[in-house]
Amino acid sequence: MRFRINRSSSASTPLPPEDPAPTPAVHTARPHVVEAPLSAHEIELIRASVSVVEPLAAEMTVYFYAILFARYPEVRPMFPPGMDAQRGRLLRSLLRIVDLVDDPESLVRFCGHLGRDHRKFGTLSEHFPAVGECLLASLARYAGPAWTADIAAAWTKAYGAVAGVMISAAEEDEAVRPAVWPATVVHRVSRGHGIAEITVRPHLPYEYAAGQYVSVETPWWPKHWRYYSPANAPRDDGSLTFHVRAVTGGTVSNALVHRAAVGDVVHLGHPMGDMVLEAAVHSDLLCVAGGTGLAPIRALVEEVARRGERHQVDLFLGVRTGAELYGVDDMLRMSQRHHWLTIRGAVSDEYIPGIRGSLPDVLTEYGPWYQHDVYLSGPAQMVIAATETLTLGGTPPDRIHHDPFETPVLSLP
Ligand SMILES: Cc1cc2nc3c(=O)[nH]c(=O)nc-3n(C[C@H](O)[C@H](O)[C@H](O)COP(=O)(O)OP(=O)(O)OC[C@H]3O[C@@H](n4cnc5c(N)ncnc54)[C@H](O)[C@@H]3O)c2cc1C
Ligand code: HEM
Repeated sequence: MRFRINRSSSASTPLPPEDPAPTPAVHTARPHVVEAPLSAHEIELIRASVSVVEPLAAEMTVYFYAILFARYPEVRPMFPPGMDAQRGRLLRSLLRIVDLVDDPESLVRFCGHLGRDHRKFGTLSEHFPAVGECLLASLARYAGPAWTADIAAAWTKAYGAVAGVMISAAEEDEAVRPAVWPATVVHRVSRGHGIAEITVRPHLPYEYAAGQYVSVETPWWPKHWRYYSPANAPRDDGSLTFHVRAVTGGTVSNALVHRAAVGDVVHLGHPMGDMVLEAAVHSDLLCVAGGTGLAPIRALVEEVARRGERHQVDLFLGVRTGAELYGVDDMLRMSQRHHWLTIRGAVSDEYIPGIRGSLPDVLTEYGPWYQHDVYLSGPAQMVIAATETLTLGGTPPDRIHHDPFETPVLSLP
């Protein structure tokens, strides 16, 4: 059985072999909350089926996209032309659907963000049944005999709940905001060590909060959206400055660092992320930044200055070598202007008098921090190590704020 959906354009497209088990229709009704959250049994069924298909995830991903693009060629242009690096972004999240549905409050919050953000891909409500159909068909094929009607029903319910929230969030958003914001590069400066500061000015008003991140599409890699964090609090002229580090073999980062020039136009997606000043309950902040993780922290510091609220801000820059200490002069200048800002370095792999030490050791030395809100930004290992040190030192986990390490929605609390 196929999902009921109008798809005249794909009627003549040859399809891969039929699926071994029937897949029920996915309901994409539009609840704002999940009326009937999944039962423990349904969650168990979904988890068990994921563990069956997980060893075959690579093949299943190829199959999923093959049938999606064969049955619904109209969705192909939304995805990057060469899918290799990105293959699996969508399917990977679909396989973690239980994480989304498990907790209704998070479901509405995260899937709302996700639905609004999907507008930048050109996703429409009628595409959801198509993706649901191909998801279930792929699961059925790769789960083989383990696939049952009960499992299919549990997946249908979970997908329907997530899709429903995404669709209604996107529809509401459509009434008030564009899907993407073209923005012209107005300034570009190299900071050495493969890092460039790129300032763009959106053509339309772009509202975001200091500490959030933004997805960016460049003209050189269409459909390759990557996240970058503005390094400034909102400015009167609406411009945003990104700190971009070119990663080895990286597509978008190298284009931004080595090709972007004044006059080029990039696209911005919706701002995302909760690492904002409003999340703090304490007036004193501990900020820890590594590499270009300094960008959102710098924005937060500017925001504290802009508001003129009484905060003490302790900022630690964690790096392996002194050469990686980029942006330090700028931050030191800020600390000279603002008496409430203290900057310290933690250089782990090189002897530099006064700032040698691993980040956990340095944090412990200057702590305790249990009466601070903590903002962490940088490589995943650094964030994890700092989180461990701080929680051991008594900082409650809900006072520690950081961005997701990879795909936003996969890092639910
Ligand atoms: C919430 C969030 C905020 C971010 N903010 C910033 C920011 O302000 N500045 C910034 O420069 N980057 C930031 N990033 C990282 C950025 O989104 C991209 O992942 C990075 O620029 C690489 O993209 P690419 O297209 O060049 O690499 P891809 O083409 O995606 O990857 C190519 C290769 O590089 C590897 N790779 C990908 N990312 C990294 C990495 N970070 N370090 C080492 N190897 C990597 C991949 O595994 C792959 O092998 C942020 C990421 C997230 C999730
Ligand atoms: C319940 C339904 C869905 C969920 C949970 C979901 C989730 C996700 C997630 C988490 C990402 C990665 C985002 C990122 O890394 O920034 C993604 C990417 C994407 N999704 Fe969805 N999605 C859903 C439905 C759809 C539908 C219906 C379409 C339209 C056909 C779609 C098109 C895309 C595209 C084009 C990408 C980018 C892929 C890439 O860059 O490789 N998604 N999705």
